[in-house]
Amino acid sequence: MELIKLTQEYLTGIETIDYEHQKLVNYMNEIMKANEMGDHGRLLIEINIDELISYTVFHFRTEEELMQEHNDPNYLVHKDVHDKLKTEVGNFKKRFNNGEDIGTELIDFLKEWLFSHIQGVDRSYIELFQSKGVV
Ligand SMILES: [Fe+2]
Ligand SMILES: [Fe+2]
Repeated sequence: MELIKLTQEYLTGIETIDYEHQKLVNYMNEIMKANEMGDHGRLLIEINIDELISYTVFHFRTEEELMQEHNDPNYLVHKDVHDKLKTEVGNFKKRFNNGEDIGTELIDFLKEWLFSHIQGVDRSYIELFQSKGVV
């Protein structure tokens, strides 16, 4: 599997956000590499899913705090999408803990989710944040 790259069209131009999105992509790539190791990679998958989950919570908090601070009218809708993702990734983790081999399914899901999220709802705050001088 080819490593996931955050190409130009997925950048928001807001440095903090792009940095955090890149970190999420890095964890996804680590999960992908571990997934290719078969049974030997299981511990690495576990570590990286846990890291990904906590970093995702952190990143969502960054966005939500900025949205609240700048009265983003999309705040509630956007937060709801974040909350759903947290539940979905939590469900993957539960299946993994039950011994299921979820690696490939999880990567496909995250890739699809992150890219459509960045190009969808994350895009809606760019103008607002830039106008408020968020960097
Ligand atoms: Fe978001
Ligand atoms: Fe985001």
